[in-house]
Amino acid sequence: MYAVAGATGRVGSATARHLLAEGAEVRVLVRDHDRAADWRRRGAEARVVDLGDRAGLRAAIAGCAGLFALLPFDLAADDLDAYADAITASVAGAVADAGTPHVVMLSAGGADLADGTGPITGLHRMEQALRSTGTVLTALRSGHFQEKLADLLPAAEAGVYPVFAPSADEPLPMGATRDLGEAAARALLAPDAASAAIDVLGPTYTEREVAEVLGAALGRELEVVVLPEEAWPPALVDAGFRPHVAESVAELYRADANGRLAPRGDRRLDVGTPIQVTIADLVSRRVAA
Ligand SMILES: NC(=O)c1ccc[n+]([C@@H]2O[C@H](COP(=O)([O-])OP(=O)(O)OC[C@H]3O[C@@H](n4cnc5c(N)ncnc54)[C@H](OP(=O)(O)O)[C@@H]3O)[C@@H](O)[C@H]2O)c1
Repeated sequence: MYAVAGATGRVGSATARHLLAEGAEVRVLVRDHDRAADWRRRGAEARVVDLGDRAGLRAAIAGCAGLFALLPFDLAADDLDAYADAITASVAGAVADAGTPHVVMLSAGGADLADGTGPITGLHRMEQALRSTGTVLTALRSGHFQEKLADLLPAAEAGVYPVFAPSADEPLPMGATRDLGEAAARALLAPDAASAAIDVLGPTYTEREVAEVLGAALGRELEVVVLPEEAWPPALVDAGFRPHVAESVAELYRADANGRLAPRGDRRLDVGTPIQVTIADLVSRRVAA
C-alpha cells in the first residue's frame, strides 16, 4: 500500500493514477470528503487528513510501504517559513511515528541550499527533516513546472508574456507534472536502497519559445516583456500576490537567474512531455471553464 498526499493536485494526482494503473494499492490523503469519494470510485482507498495533523497523518500512513509527500505552497500564510516548518514537523513526525520505510518527496532544484532561494528553503528543511527520521528519502528535485504557465494565461490573453528573468533567450528545463507523477510512482514501486536526490529534468525551452507556442495555441502573437529585476516584486503584487509572498518569489527568480537552482542531485532523470502538449491541455481547460 502506498500513501499519496496532494492527490487533488497536479503531481499527487498523477502519482496516484500511475500507481493504480500499475495495479498497486493506493491510499490517497485528501482534505475533502467529496474528493475522497471520487478516488474511492477510481479504486483507491482514501483518508481525509490535513498534512499539518501529525497524529491523523500517522494513522493515515500506518502500514504503508511508501509515502508520496509534498510541501504545498500556502499563499495565504502570514509567514511562509513558519507554515513550511509546521507542515514539515508534522509530516516528518508522522513518518517517524509510523516507521514509514520510504518517502518520495516532491522537492525542487536548489533544495540543497539552506538560504537565498525563496520558498525552496522550506523544501531544503523538509528534505533534512525527512532524512533525519531514518526513512529512505527519494527527493525528486524538479525545475520549472510547465503548468506554471497557467498563472500567465490572463496576461497572455491580453497579448503579453511577462518574463521574470534577465533574458527570454536562456534555455531552461521545464517538466510536465504528469511526468513528475510518473517518476514518483516508479520511485515508490522500486525504492532505492539509500536516500538520494534525483534531478528530474524536462525538455529545455527558452521563454521566447514558450511564448510562441502559447501564442499559437491562443491564436494571437504575444509580446515578450522581459521585466527588470526591480520590477519583479511589484509585478507579482499586481498579479495578486501578497507583498511578503512576492518578495519570496522574487528571491526564487533571482536564485534561478544566478544558477542557484541548477541540478546538483545524486543523479538525473530526463522526462519528455513536450510543452506543446501541456499548453494545449491548459488552453482547452481554460476554454472549457
Ligand atoms: N511550480 C513549480 O514550478 C515547482 C517547481 C518545483 C517544485 N515545486 C513544488 O511542487 C509543489 C506543488 O505541487 P503541485 O503543483 O502538484 O501541487 P498543487 O497542484 O498546487 O496541489 C497542492 C496539493 O496539496 C494539497 N494540500 C495543500 N495544503 C494541504 C494541507 N495542509 N494538507 C493536506 N493537503 C494539502 C492540496 O489539496 P486541496 O485540494 O485540499 O487544497 C493539493 O492536493 C510546490 O509546493 C513546490 O514544493 C513546484
